[in-house]
Amino acid sequence: MARVYNFSAGPAVLPEEVLAECASEMLDYKGSGQSVMEMSHRSAVYQAIIDDAEADFRELVGVPENYKVLFLQGGASQQFSAIPMNLCALPGASRKADYIVTGQWAKKAYQEASRFIDAQAIASSADQTFSYIPDCTDLPVRDDADYVYICENNTIYGTAYKELPNTKGKVLVSDVSSMFLSQPHDITRYGVMYGGVQKNVGPAGLVISVIREDLIPAEEIPSCPTMLEWKTQADAGSLYNTPNCWAIYVCGKVFKWLMSKGGLAAMKEYNTAKAQILYDYLDESKLFKGTVRTCDRSIMNVPFITGSKELDAEFVKAAEAAGFVNLKGHRSVGGMRASLYNAMPVEGVEALVAFMKDFEAKH
Ligand SMILES: Cc1ncc(COP(=O)(O)O)c(C=O)c1O
Repeated sequence: MARVYNFSAGPAVLPEEVLAECASEMLDYKGSGQSVMEMSHRSAVYQAIIDDAEADFRELVGVPENYKVLFLQGGASQQFSAIPMNLCALPGASRKADYIVTGQWAKKAYQEASRFIDAQAIASSADQTFSYIPDCTDLPVRDDADYVYICENNTIYGTAYKELPNTKGKVLVSDVSSMFLSQPHDITRYGVMYGGVQKNVGPAGLVISVIREDLIPAEEIPSCPTMLEWKTQADAGSLYNTPNCWAIYVCGKVFKWLMSKGGLAAMKEYNTAKAQILYDYLDESKLFKGTVRTCDRSIMNVPFITGSKELDAEFVKAAEAAGFVNLKGHRSVGGMRASLYNAMPVEGVEALVAFMKDFEAKH
């Protein structure tokens, strides 16, 4: 078996130990005689899986008791509509929200919210192809905004917030999809923190939302589909309907894997060191260069270019042939992008840099 080094932005590399364990339980999960894909989500054996996953997630992240952890479907994109629909249905809501637009995902969330509420972009880095994070110390947050929204790590552009914005007391909502569990998250700073799991945590199609309890509307929201009301799944322990059983099971295993690696603080140290290897090389290379303002660099997604489209394409092709796959940059940026999620081993980054040095020497 030859595994490649997979630099995909998502779905992405998962820990080999987890994949092997899933494989070993495929035909018979713990003596149940079935795989997790086949069992009823109402069975005691599945209930134990989802209960364990939630308990481990809470312990790993340090989720305070007054926050709900919901396992939801529809990916992160479904939350783009669920967020305004729920938060702007709370008693006294103004139906206004302020968005910081730092890339395509933040923009999509902003555009989606604009369909339902008065959403306003209070800062943007579109003027320089989203290659930086705007100064968020003194933003024109509206006095009556129901929340301030950010995308904390911008998967496509490779930027990340190093400090959370000053929301002037407003509820902060953050999409952490591409940095989920890659470093500690101080949940108390957020009203809602959510992420699609298909980058750092598990298979696609599952989104985990951590929501402060008082931000879940207590009454039915007349204009909101039942499945988008957070209360529906909060009351049902994420089992209102058939959940993404398999993804929750795999995530549960990844939570245990992360704990065995020393937790999120240890992951941050490991991920920072890994990214530094690539950034150090990009800073000294005469051929490759990073596209992001240095102080805003993400430790998860690293875009880089040669300056020549032809050479970029040649590099991606040669890299793939050498076992470094999914390095092509997003179509809106071009060039290359290496995603260095939790399960990418340091050896993968070292090998990539060695390959890049060799390519540079030849060109
Ligand atoms: C930061 C961010 N938010 C949201 C999404 C959308 O996720 P999904 O495809 O699960 O809807 C992505 C997908 O790549 C992403 O990177």
